[in-house]
Amino acid sequence: GGAGVVGATAGFALGRGAGSPGGSGGDGGPPRRDLDGANGPQTEPFYGTHQSGVETPPQAFAHFIAFTLGPGIKAAEAVRWLRLLTADAAALTQGQAPLADSESELAVDPARLTVTFGFGSELVSLAGKEHVPDWLKPLEAFSIDRLDRDRCKGDLLLQICGDDPLTLAHARRMLFKDSRSFAEVAWQRDGFRRAYGSAGEGKTQRNLFGQLDGTANPGPGSEDFARIIWGQATEAANPVFSARGEPPADLGAHLPVWMRGGTTLVLRDIAMNLDTWDQADRPAREFAVGRTMGTGAPLSGEDEFDDPDFTAVDQRGLTKISQVAHIARARDGLGPEVQIHRRTFNYETGAGGDSGLLFASFQADIERQFLPIQRRLAEVDLLNEWTTPIGSTVWAIPPGATEDGYVGQELFD
Ligand code: HEM
Repeated sequence: GGAGVVGATAGFALGRGAGSPGGSGGDGGPPRRDLDGANGPQTEPFYGTHQSGVETPPQAFAHFIAFTLGPGIKAAEAVRWLRLLTADAAALTQGQAPLADSESELAVDPARLTVTFGFGSELVSLAGKEHVPDWLKPLEAFSIDRLDRDRCKGDLLLQICGDDPLTLAHARRMLFKDSRSFAEVAWQRDGFRRAYGSAGEGKTQRNLFGQLDGTANPGPGSEDFARIIWGQATEAANPVFSARGEPPADLGAHLPVWMRGGTTLVLRDIAMNLDTWDQADRPAREFAVGRTMGTGAPLSGEDEFDDPDFTAVDQRGLTKISQVAHIARARDGLGPEVQIHRRTFNYETGAGGDSGLLFASFQADIERQFLPIQRRLAEVDLLNEWTTPIGSTVWAIPPGATEDGYVGQELFD
């Protein structure tokens, strides 16, 4: 116990000095002086107004783990569980081993580890049914859905993200061990993006269809993000807000008081059929989304970040971006508040196995932001030819914890 913690702290301190020469290439590969330790010691904050893992630039790997409350768990036990998870998540994200960690060396390279808590309605109602917001329930059924009921449940979600899969596996096991006497695992899904260092910093990731995915997202740190995801009215209007006009300042109005500083998460598990996608040629693929495969530019423009022009026509007088293309359906004609932050991770289970997207969508207001988009996409979207929602959950993302508190304290105190 105690010795492990001390050892871990020392290890972490060493890790910080990893710029020193002598990367040993322990796997038998050549020494990699430049990269040695570059990733490991990096930390994301745990405590704060907001939880990390929402506005945090997406890490390379994600584990989503959903728990169902064990029988007879009441508010007092739930608080004990949340305190335990909070303390251990806080330590792990800072590269420190929790007290009960018997593999404490595995905690020393946090590699931007974040642990984000999501609450389901059962957990919230332990504090009193009146605290359950009306939107915290399964989404309405969509005609495109082929949902596996086992992937649509859960009372507590942990979204564990990081740039190192070993650190991540260790964090997941520690948080799982904390949970054993309070809850059962309902389901788990693992996802990935580009590894740290493979692509340039800040580059848009590609999904398994090969598309640039995440271009039209409100950027972390922007005023768009504060309003659209945290539902915060910002003091000064932003003159260069976005081409879509300013969303109203009250998008957070549907967040109960205990959630101020928090947001909502819709997590859809969407299967992608790579075999039928292989049969679509490049023009068909670009037509379906409304963007080019190479640069991700809208079919009306040149550059990835050009604003799509849904009225631009070609020589035959047809719109360059089809009205039934994915980006036209997801944006054209919808108000400036109808925006979401997509923090997606790819998944695949091996050759010939399942592939898809863990589609994590953060927004202040599900009814005003997520649902108008999802309803339109379910109605018509060329991309539906190759994609099928198979899992769906909705989560309240509480605010971040204070240093002497725990995630969810505003709800249970
Ligand atoms: C944009 C792929 C599901 C909402 C895009 C883009 C791609 C893409 C390639 C264009 C680049 C970008 O801006 O990121 C996919 C795939 C999906 C999927 C492969 C399923 C496997 C969804 C779902 C929603 C959604 C379920 C919402 C309910 C959006 C939005 C945009 C977008 C809002 C930005 C539109 C804009 O403002 O330009 N998606 N998407 N997508 N997608 Fe999806």
